[in-house]
Amino acid sequence: MVAALRVMALGRGMTDKNIVLTGFMGTGKTAVGRVLACWLGREFVDMDSELESRACKPINRIFAEDGEPAFRAMECALAEELGGRRNLVIAAGGGAVLDPRNVEALSRSGILICLRASPAEILRRIGNDNCRPLLACADRQKRIAQLLAEREAAYSRLPHHVATDGLSPGDVAQKILGLLNSLTASSHGSCR
Ligand code: S3P
Repeated sequence: MVAALRVMALGRGMTDKNIVLTGFMGTGKTAVGRVLACWLGREFVDMDSELESRACKPINRIFAEDGEPAFRAMECALAEELGGRRNLVIAAGGGAVLDPRNVEALSRSGILICLRASPAEILRRIGNDNCRPLLACADRQKRIAQLLAEREAAYSRLPHHVATDGLSPGDVAQKILGLLNSLTASSHGSCR
């Protein structure tokens, strides 16, 4: 089943476009991206990990020592760079698509998919993980709700959305392959 969907998703038209996973923190971008990259035999780029290795320090320290604007500038430069590459599965940081320049750059060579999850599921997945500076506060639940509300307009402008509540990374990866397959089929249909 997975293999069949995989082959169909790799049909003409979709072949070398990057698959760019976006969405709020805790929606599963990294975990799902790893599965997809493995199934598709593609290189996986996790933007946060890439930025950490370039800065030689974790995101928390980039925020604390250099400030969020410096982090966003690095993120923007990386999005621009990735927009010039193909055949990747990319997990973007949760705030990357708030900047239209990043959306434009990543869309140049990729299809943007926004992973969605409810605030409760996000809270559950993030648990006690302390690697996200924007969630370093006493009331995480309130902070998540506040950020989701602030960002809803930007996320909802993205072209494709996949709900992830209650699903494993493999389940979500399968849904994404199904989506890619249907897009490929409809783009072929419209060429006839
Ligand atoms: C951020 C999300 C994080 C990371 C940084 C800022 C955001 O990535 O880029 O902490 O603004 O939502 P994840 O979505 O992978 O946690």
